[in-house]
Amino acid sequence: MSKANLEAVNVLFLSFSFRFMMVIKQAVERLDYLEVSYSPALLYVGARHQENKQFCIENFWLFKDSILYIWRQVLREKFTAKTEEEWISLLDFIIAGLTAGFRH
Ligand code: HEM
Repeated sequence: MSKANLEAVNVLFLSFSFRFMMVIKQAVERLDYLEVSYSPALLYVGARHQENKQFCIENFWLFKDSILYIWRQVLREKFTAKTEEEWISLLDFIIAGLTAGFRH
């Protein structure tokens, strides 16, 4: 891959990472309301994934496993069973919202 292509991929990756973290941040800020409804923003983001025709819902769940894998590696003993359980709940909620938006 050329240097220019690598830089373009890097920008895309950083941009996606930032937007991904915004979704996590928003979900954390809405923790008290998670049982009530998916935010319109979450549904919108899920729907945005439809634009990529190669995308399938399974990718969300694979991504969840990847995130948990990395956090387990990086945080080691700080990533307790309780912490993992809570993150699984939050990620499950986020992905359920993304899926609802994707299917809409
Ligand atoms: C928990 C899982 C995920 C979250 C929270 C998430 C979040 C987001 C957000 C916030 C955007 C930007 C939407 C916008 O600005 O309109 C986006 C776009 C996108 N996402 Fe995801 N995403 C997730 C999983 C994935 C996975 C697993 C893939 C691919 C395998 C993927 C591929 C894409 C693509 C291709 C775009 C469009 C990029 C662009 O147009 O710039 N996403 N995602």
